[in-house]
Amino acid sequence: MYKIAVIPGDGTGPEVVREGLKVLNAVNEKFGIKAEFTEFLFGGERYMKTGEVLSDEELSRLRKFDAIFLGAIGHPEVKPGILEKGILLKLRFGLDQYINLRPVRLYPNVYTPVKGKEPGDIDFVVVRENTEGLYTGTGGFTQKGTPHEVAVQSSVSTRMGVDRCLRFAFEYARKRNKKKKLTLCGKTNVLTYQFDLWERAFNEMGEKEYPDIERDYAHVDAMTLYMIECPEKYDVIVTDNMFGDIITDLAAVIQGGLGVAAGGNINPDGVSMFEPIGGTAPAFTGKNEINPLAAIGAAGMMLEMLGEREAAEAVENAILRVTPKMKSMRAAEMGMGTDEVGDLVVNELK
Ligand code: IPM
Ligand code: MN
Repeated sequence: MYKIAVIPGDGTGPEVVREGLKVLNAVNEKFGIKAEFTEFLFGGERYMKTGEVLSDEELSRLRKFDAIFLGAIGHPEVKPGILEKGILLKLRFGLDQYINLRPVRLYPNVYTPVKGKEPGDIDFVVVRENTEGLYTGTGGFTQKGTPHEVAVQSSVSTRMGVDRCLRFAFEYARKRNKKKKLTLCGKTNVLTYQFDLWERAFNEMGEKEYPDIERDYAHVDAMTLYMIECPEKYDVIVTDNMFGDIITDLAAVIQGGLGVAAGGNINPDGVSMFEPIGGTAPAFTGKNEINPLAAIGAAGMMLEMLGEREAAEAVENAILRVTPKMKSMRAAEMGMGTDEVGDLVVNELK
């Protein structure tokens, strides 16, 4: 019996989570998987009412689950940073979810703004380091509020943190068994300490332990160009937290937008969390217009991580058969409601 924590969150979060759970229940029934869902109402709504974000006790309770399924967190009236740091980043760091995994796949009949690219051309995975870099909150102000104010935000890379991320990426490239190629995305020409460490660790590990995986390197700025011009050259990309944040949004656009982009915050030895990356989409909240496929894809990733490979594949295959039936991946332009998309996926599973 899997114990799954569900955090619907704010905005369209609850609507897409509902469809994700609908699909999970259907696929679980089909494959005889037993799961129990427990809802947690963390998010901007609760913060506005009570001032609470995520307490240490609540974080501890989450440690007892097998996985977390998250909708979206955010509130238009809450100052940027409070909910991100207080909930999302607290979960990532607190549960040591050191990998942010973002499959980037163009599904059949899905519009990509990159002219001439077909589904097979856009099919790669980004492995983003998720607990270090610019996200550790290391830094501070001096002489704040004066004309001489100094603000420093330090980017932190540890050998242990880099190694465990690289290992996950190499293993992933091997398991994925496609091009068997791992591209390090960095900035060795300017960030001469941090990406020196990354590059050395990458080559040492690759040479010694993964001779079957081709190693490749791109500076992050160049990569934004290649991802548009020749996305077909990528298989698995590994990068640090900040660069990963940026390139995965670019990747979302070329795979058809936020309606289909799913991600996992993974601790291979602990509690991982899966989410559609699109955010709360306040303009579409409560209208049954948001695309739930990203949440459904995230549910599939969760099954994969739990070791339910067949079930995960069934979800992915069902999505592949549903996208051609939709007019668009964009909210309010799908030619059907949020719930109908979920129903179609469930039907394909039967
Ligand atoms: C993401 C998001 C988060 C990040 C924000 C909401 C803190 O953009 O998951 O990519 O920067 O990591
Ligand atoms: Mn982001």
